[in-house]
Amino acid sequence: MRKSNSINWTKKDLIDLETLTKEEIELILSTASTFKEVSTREIKKVPALRGKTVVNLFYEPSTRTRVSFEVAAKRLSADVINIASESSSVKKGETLIDTGKNIEALRVDIIIMRHNYSGASAILARNLKASVVNAGDGWHEHPTQALLDMFTLKEKLGHIEGLNVSIVGDIAHSRVARSNIWGLVKLGAKVTVCAPKMLIPPAIDKMGVTVTHDIEDALKNADAVNVLRMQFERDRGDAFPSQLEYFKKFGITSERIKKAKKNIIVMHPGPINRGIEMSSNVADGGNSVILEQVTNGIAVRMAVLFLVAQANEYVRKNK
Ligand code: CP
Repeated sequence: MRKSNSINWTKKDLIDLETLTKEEIELILSTASTFKEVSTREIKKVPALRGKTVVNLFYEPSTRTRVSFEVAAKRLSADVINIASESSSVKKGETLIDTGKNIEALRVDIIIMRHNYSGASAILARNLKASVVNAGDGWHEHPTQALLDMFTLKEKLGHIEGLNVSIVGDIAHSRVARSNIWGLVKLGAKVTVCAPKMLIPPAIDKMGVTVTHDIEDALKNADAVNVLRMQFERDRGDAFPSQLEYFKKFGITSERIKKAKKNIIVMHPGPINRGIEMSSNVADGGNSVILEQVTNGIAVRMAVLFLVAQANEYVRKNK
């Protein structure tokens, strides 16, 4: 069933959506559809990665992504090891490449990495034979988050082509925004980004999006709104006068949702700052698919792990 799908996937790593084709993105989404059902079984396991070892190497905090990758790998029957940078030899000055090569020397097949530097996953991937999956690198990309967002959109609305998707919030510091824009534009969605001027990066329009600073404008025709977290840890504090000010001008409230399309989908990659990006009654309300996004993350990450492992095995056998 999955073998015929994976025949078109040749990459040993998943680093970004910028360099994927529309067909490759669609292949990940269709492979994820076949894996989604596994999590509904009484025994939530398939043997696809039996005998493979997966390492979660996280240099930044994470709840959803780390656990989701671990669950995905275990549902594929892989062995999983979690390494947090605070408890590793990174603290003793070991370089990223040395850390990667030492993990690889343990005959690890896939390294899933979150790092605060943009480009860190690409550096590791270039230096290792093991597969590398980017779980978020600095401001650059968070490809599996965007893939699970697109999977959820497709599941809810049936298609992505032609959809009006608004991304609201801290676009400047957001790897989630960048991955979503690359993916959604390739799949034919019309993307609008909405934020205060200081939180919109220069030349973002070159990525094929419309820019607005007016939240009513962003919500007017939107089929879905993806609300981003305010990244206080990355912001210098000069983007807007106060959190209350931000909520008044850009916060997603039930009043604003009532004026939008009736079935508008409200998304958020998490973690949510309630009362800053969105009110609790929207986060927990009927238009929200936030927890469904989390559930879909498992199927999408199963698909990614499966595809990169197969491609890597193929390359090794045919060298
Ligand atoms: N969406 C996301 O990346 O969440 P975590 O930081 O909890 O992994």
